[in-house]
Amino acid sequence: MKVVDLPFVRKPTRSLCLTALSLACVSSAFAQSSSPPLTPDQRADQLIKRMSLDDMHHMVQSYNTMIPQQPPGGIGTAGYVPALPALGIPALQENDAGIGVHNYPVGKDKNGQPTLVRGVAGDATPLPSLLGLAATWNPQIAYAGGSMIGGEAHSQGINMLLAGGINLAREPRNGRNFEYLGEDPLLAARMDGAEIRGIQSQHVLSTIKHYALNAQETNRLTVSSNIDERAMRESDLLAFEMAIEDGHPASVMCGYNKINHVYDCSNSHLLNDVLKHDWKFPGWVMTDWGADHGVNDALDGTDQVSGIDLGSGFSIGSMSSSFGAPLTQALANGTVPRSRLQDMVHRILRSMYAGGLFADPPVIKPLNADVDALVSQHAAEQAIVLLKNDHAQLPLSANVKTIAIIGGHADAGVLSGGGSAQVWPIGGPAIPASQPPVQNVWQWMVYDPSSPMKALQKMMPGVTVRYDDGSDPTRAAALAKSSDVAIVFATQWMCEAIDAPNLSLPNGQDALIDAVAAANPHAVMVLENGGPVKMPWLSKVGAVVEAWYPGARGGEAIAGVLTGKVNPSGRLPITFPQDEQQLPRPQLTDALDVDYNIEGAAVGYKWFDEKKLEPLFPFGFGLSYSHFGYSDLHVNTKGDRVTVSFKVTNLGDRAGMDTPQIYVGMPANSGEAPRRLGGFEKVALQPKESRTVTVTIDPRLLAVFDVQGDQWQVAGGSYPIQVGRSSRDLVLNGTAAVAAARIAP
Ligand code: GLC
Repeated sequence: MKVVDLPFVRKPTRSLCLTALSLACVSSAFAQSSSPPLTPDQRADQLIKRMSLDDMHHMVQSYNTMIPQQPPGGIGTAGYVPALPALGIPALQENDAGIGVHNYPVGKDKNGQPTLVRGVAGDATPLPSLLGLAATWNPQIAYAGGSMIGGEAHSQGINMLLAGGINLAREPRNGRNFEYLGEDPLLAARMDGAEIRGIQSQHVLSTIKHYALNAQETNRLTVSSNIDERAMRESDLLAFEMAIEDGHPASVMCGYNKINHVYDCSNSHLLNDVLKHDWKFPGWVMTDWGADHGVNDALDGTDQVSGIDLGSGFSIGSMSSSFGAPLTQALANGTVPRSRLQDMVHRILRSMYAGGLFADPPVIKPLNADVDALVSQHAAEQAIVLLKNDHAQLPLSANVKTIAIIGGHADAGVLSGGGSAQVWPIGGPAIPASQPPVQNVWQWMVYDPSSPMKALQKMMPGVTVRYDDGSDPTRAAALAKSSDVAIVFATQWMCEAIDAPNLSLPNGQDALIDAVAAANPHAVMVLENGGPVKMPWLSKVGAVVEAWYPGARGGEAIAGVLTGKVNPSGRLPITFPQDEQQLPRPQLTDALDVDYNIEGAAVGYKWFDEKKLEPLFPFGFGLSYSHFGYSDLHVNTKGDRVTVSFKVTNLGDRAGMDTPQIYVGMPANSGEAPRRLGGFEKVALQPKESRTVTVTIDPRLLAVFDVQGDQWQVAGGSYPIQVGRSSRDLVLNGTAAVAAARIAP
């Protein structure tokens, strides 16, 4: 899927040259010798022959070194598997996560600020949130971002990122939606696969997580996600299936929750039948931290228990976890056959070989901070979604002389999400980090030090910019009244292990926005949020800019869009509901059973289409400072392969990017939601320039999952094919005559 070329895509590490060189050597050697180079699987098998039972046992547990004192070889990561030097096996250093290299809080200093396990706050470059990355609809941006954070990990001695969060947004109040890629399997898979490829291009392994249906944080350790097999296969599992095919992650992390009352990490159907048998996944399954439930997890498909405590004296080989003493006993009495342990270790070692961990171990070196920050800024610029722009309120006019900047600590920085995905930004937090009322050592609210106000002042030097913190709506309204334009920055902090109570902006921000909008008819809203929010003030403001958690250069990206230096090109990866009543579950309960059969596979826009609901803003929506036309639709079918081509034209007078989306309709009697995203492509066009886009639709997106037959089934028939600007703005209409087909998973 070719899209705009991007600068700053980090080249694979030096080992690419070495690999080229070694390939040259190998090929010449090959020319002389008969045996081809060994595959990762063959190399793993050779190594296992030299391993004792204890050596193998050593590999199937990782240790929690998010602790003040480090054991020998520990560097302060979430999961540490010590090296086995006699066998030449390097240590595994497993660190969070998908937005950048996390540093673990292990305590507080005298100022109440966190003390971090590795140095001072500020040693990595945060990308925008993954929800923001998804809003770019640009896999190249995701690849570049993954490559950047992978390189930063490699430079800090880390050889695995616990990235690849892809749980579908079934619950808009889920505290971790900012770590995931929205509501659609295809979009989530394309973006996740690309980020994973980017990370692994730096010879740093990646996970994909949390497998599966870990869709809310409330009761996350015990809640059961209840859903029929077919619905699960056509939604959450399809996202994992396509992302694994695209990204080839080294490891799958099984989640905390249950599915139909069986824990993810004890779920043989999920792990053995689906992941390892149907999808032929060659890597290893690691548990989430504390998600193991007994030694039988080894028989159910789990290969490694994560983050066990070292106990006193750093006793490596801790007997505490399910794979400690219980595994030793199970191997001794045959409950767990030695062949299963060999398979567990084979999966880990073959992935370490395939990922380059033996050939290209991490090299500690300074970060390329400025280049890395630009990668983040490019992502943020393409993530920003322009939701409203009445009377071309934006970009800000050259006649504007005074601007009021209100709230959101916009004079200092931009908000980011909390928990294990947090990145402690280079330069340190913009303002002192703070904690929610009920807190764990690792839950912190951090503002990245990139001020939208300062960036705006730089871009509009002749304009008077005044700031109000928004704590007093009356005072803020007075400033707004005396300014040409008032820009309100509204924030919604989301965090791991905490769900939002509702979809409202917290802390009385709606009242602040009302007061400012009443005082200035040219009010502009900028949102820094972790998921969809309600907008009771929408009709009273001139423009709304969705900036998500915009990362290391979020301020510059926001200012770029406000001034027109950047033409906004983001599209919503998640539906914004009018209110909670439109949701499959209007109340987010703390029940230990969640019925996902209410919507089944109809997640997000599919639910809204099926129930004929009008969202506040639909999936795929986003405005531009230009506008684009679609024409010349051609639909060609060959068996179950449908290829769609059409022309996109930039009808405006400025360069811009657009993401036309292809939606496939389901046959009326299929009992499925009316349409599914079947393809998309982001294109950059100069004014009046046209481009022909051609996309082949994955036949699984036309299919239903036949549970009895354990296969995808495409019904023969005529399928509506539509090209649109969003799931609710469909411009071109065609049909595809598709032959019946069965597709093995
Ligand atoms: C957490 C998270 C997981 C993370 C792991 C290590 O509980 O659920 O996403 O990678 O523990 O920090």
